[in-house]
Amino acid sequence: MVRVCFVCLGNICRSPAAEAIFGAMVKAAGLDREIDVDSAGTGAMHVGERADERARDEARRRGLEIMHEARQFVPADFKRFQYIVGMDASNLRALKAMPASARFTGSLSLMRSHDPASPANAAIPDPFYGSEKDFAEVFDLCETACKGLLERIATDRNLSLPQPS
Ligand code: 4NP
Repeated sequence: MVRVCFVCLGNICRSPAAEAIFGAMVKAAGLDREIDVDSAGTGAMHVGERADERARDEARRRGLEIMHEARQFVPADFKRFQYIVGMDASNLRALKAMPASARFTGSLSLMRSHDPASPANAAIPDPFYGSEKDFAEVFDLCETACKGLLERIATDRNLSLPQPS
């Protein structure tokens, strides 16, 4: 099993959206027995909460349901996951500042680095203080990046993807 964890700050907006989008893609590709998907936050302020209502509404508009309850990323997650994907540079900095990250042998990447059309080091912008439109943009950016991430994992792990029709 390959395990993927998306990480943002609060684990109530961007990373649960990415988890739902990527999970649906993995399922559509028939790879849900091969690829496990989760998300976490570097902060603890929303632990135990369901995703932000604006994220859940946008998910629903796209035929997705976000069931995740927020949790904080813990040192043991560096052992559990092979792919850890941060939404912005500060998420990556917080992860790298954890001593357990030194022994991580998997892939630690920035979400938009999986989108070949994205500028270098671009973030999935934090929509928490934004509008409905900002949440829609988060979903659009995550969808594009998730496609690239799935191709990367399929290549790394020798998994076959259905041909696009
Ligand atoms: P997320 O968004 O990191 O995408 O879940 C945020 C959620 C909460 C806060 C900031 C960003 N906050 O400051 O409480």
